[in-house]
Amino acid sequence: MAEKSRIGVTGLAVMGANLARNMARRGFPVAVHNRTTSKTQEFMKDFGDEGPFTGSESLQEFVDALETPRTIVVMVKAGPPVDAVIDELAPLLDKGDIIIDAGNSHFPDTDRRAAYCQERGLRFMGVGVSGGEEGALLGPSIMPGGDPEAYAEVEEILTAIAAVVDDTPCCTHVGPGGAGHYVKMVHNGIEYADIQLIAEAYDLLTHVAGLSAPEIGKIFEQWNTGDLESFLIEITGKVLAKTDEKTGAPLVDVIVDQAEQKGTGRWTAIDALDLGVPLTGITEAVFARTLSSLRDERRAASTTLAGPTPGSGSNRDDLVEDIRQALYASKVVAYAQGFAQMRAASQQNDWNLDLGAMATIWRGGCIIRAQFLNRIRDAYAEHPDLDNLLMVPYFTQAVADAQDAWRRVVATATAQGVAIPAFSSSLSYYDGYRRERGPANLIQGLRDFFGAHTYRRTDSDGTFHTRWAQDGSEVSTG
Ligand code: 6PG
Repeated sequence: MAEKSRIGVTGLAVMGANLARNMARRGFPVAVHNRTTSKTQEFMKDFGDEGPFTGSESLQEFVDALETPRTIVVMVKAGPPVDAVIDELAPLLDKGDIIIDAGNSHFPDTDRRAAYCQERGLRFMGVGVSGGEEGALLGPSIMPGGDPEAYAEVEEILTAIAAVVDDTPCCTHVGPGGAGHYVKMVHNGIEYADIQLIAEAYDLLTHVAGLSAPEIGKIFEQWNTGDLESFLIEITGKVLAKTDEKTGAPLVDVIVDQAEQKGTGRWTAIDALDLGVPLTGITEAVFARTLSSLRDERRAASTTLAGPTPGSGSNRDDLVEDIRQALYASKVVAYAQGFAQMRAASQQNDWNLDLGAMATIWRGGCIIRAQFLNRIRDAYAEHPDLDNLLMVPYFTQAVADAQDAWRRVVATATAQGVAIPAFSSSLSYYDGYRRERGPANLIQGLRDFFGAHTYRRTDSDGTFHTRWAQDGSEVSTG
């Protein structure tokens, strides 16, 4: 009888296939399965000699191929397909077996599935995996959530296949229940903000600085050697440098300007609204994608709605440097907001998230990997209960140094009619956050006027209402 496999992977589309290959290349015997049998056969034909694989044609065969207690990674499309696989697997499994959902599932689904599995004596883990196809194969960032004892049993495999930075694997137990998928969701939200900021910088460099895509590609290449050094800045340089084989034009110039999305950014924004956390950068990034999708409406509006036509006006070199600084400052704000959101979620759910550890495991393997995460890790090492990253001396200073440039970029873009929702909302958040006294006093006054919603006073405790429509006197309401 063939040796049993240490772990199983069901779902052999590219992410599942590459995770399985990553495990096998590191010596772990892996059983593989796919609902469509031909996919498993293809996998075994293409990669079977890369490591100790067992190809299984049926789910029963797959389950029988595994050591007990079994560990099964499910890598299928988020949503109902995950439930369908769990429903099919559960009757074939034994108490204590572990099901790992490594897809981009929504964290409340993960909580629900964990409870469902628990009722059946099974253990369930929701594991965020970031890094795309290449990361899955060569070393992703892994955000495991769920039962800590189950994690202890799979830790050896997960840390072995994860990316490594400074001898530290980009994988750590995040927290119970849906915490792993929650952190992956916020990772993706930050990814949306990062990408939107890059797109706004590209728009300004194209339409205000008047540069071509390859010229801008070189600027990004240059930016990737400084504070902005990150995977996304690096690949922006490469995407902008690419020539279209068909037309000879820069490829980016022939790509349709409609951004798609699978939902993780939207979930992050909705969750921020539910938690009451200001998450302007990520949320604007989601709205910018939805606005981009209104292509026909935009086409009609482009010849109807008035506004300036962008064109060069300022010194190009100064503008390029200003945009770099605005990008960095806005990025700091996006991360400050994302981390504040994770902090609020951790408090609300009793997850006890170690935010410094989250920054640590995002330094390699994942899409938002960046030098700058070292700074965030250091910030939480020094101040574990930090309210906002902007208040740490390094970031306070970085934004202070960049703010003049940031304001010039927002002013120039606004004057020239270039939409910069992420740059400008990040700056407004910054200006709102640093105000001891904002204008919400008037909001409270208005709410009290039309709805008797009451207000608090700066000079005494309790709540008050003014009889606006009667004699104008103030009454104490509590
Ligand atoms: C990752 C990516 C990955 C995926 C995004 C794309 O961390 O590896 O985030 O999860 O590429 O979900 O998301 P959109 O299709 O919504 O842009």
